[in-house]
Amino acid sequence: MKSMLITGANRGVGLGMIRAVLNLPKENVPGNIVAVCRKPDQAKELNELADQNKNIHILQLESKEFDKYETFAAQVGEVLKDNGLDLLINNAGIAGSFRRIGLIKSGELMETYVVNTIAPIMLTKALLPLLKQAAEKNVGAAPGVPRATIVNISSILASMKLNGDGGHYSYRCSKAALNAATVSMKVDLKDTGICAVALHPGWIKTQMGGPKAPLEVDKACSRIIKTVFGITDQHNGGFYDLDGKNLPW
Ligand SMILES: NC(=O)c1ccc[n+]([C@@H]2O[C@H](COP(=O)([O-])OP(=O)(O)OC[C@H]3O[C@@H](n4cnc5c(N)ncnc54)[C@H](OP(=O)(O)O)[C@@H]3O)[C@@H](O)[C@H]2O)c1
Repeated sequence: MKSMLITGANRGVGLGMIRAVLNLPKENVPGNIVAVCRKPDQAKELNELADQNKNIHILQLESKEFDKYETFAAQVGEVLKDNGLDLLINNAGIAGSFRRIGLIKSGELMETYVVNTIAPIMLTKALLPLLKQAAEKNVGAAPGVPRATIVNISSILASMKLNGDGGHYSYRCSKAALNAATVSMKVDLKDTGICAVALHPGWIKTQMGGPKAPLEVDKACSRIIKTVFGITDQHNGGFYDLDGKNLPW
């Protein structure tokens, strides 16, 4: 794989995935890793990684600033030259607060939907020409990661079948909608060789996951990256956990 782009790359799962990719055997490390965050000047650990690894390119994007997406996509294109984008990981997200039906707030529902659902859809749209470019360059390779792939970082909390606890309206609905978008991406892109999957990264000790989470960032992220790098046509349009196990919608 020549190139990948990860949003929310300054901390948590995003930063962990970049570390996990850098730990792969040298021949599997992408030549260009576009690491996207909203405050690059404050992204200390990411900047340290970029100083040590010249294949990391840090770009700025606030997910909610949709009017900047076109310019952003042009910046990504400049970094990747004419190779296109092999792997897009829509990872940036927010959790919202845990609220039962009597306490939900419309503002929080909308904010979470903007960041967790609309932003990954619009970013995928903006970067689609680069994904298509990669899929064309990699023609002959098997569909999936060898060709071009979109990974939408979802959550098990999006699963309707597994929802036994209720609450969490903003987060559950936004990620369930992202799952719906993943299936539409699969259908819309069926003739391009580009695959799209939704992936639950596990309950991980990050700012979002909190200190009680059972999974450590580095170990979980190497499992995630192993799964992501193994995505094939058979996974297209599905919902998986960090080890590639199918999750119910
Ligand atoms: N941790 C878990 O247990 C868990 C479980 C299931 C799913 N997930 C999913 O995994 C993904 C990463 O979660 P995490 O645990 O790494 O969360 P995190 O530690 O809270 O990190 C969230 C990341 O998203 C970025 N972000 C948030 N709002 C943004 C915006 N408006 N524009 C641009 N970037 C924005 C943050 O940037 P700033 O630093 O600038 O805020 C940060 O890089 C999320 O999609 C989350 O829903 C996590």
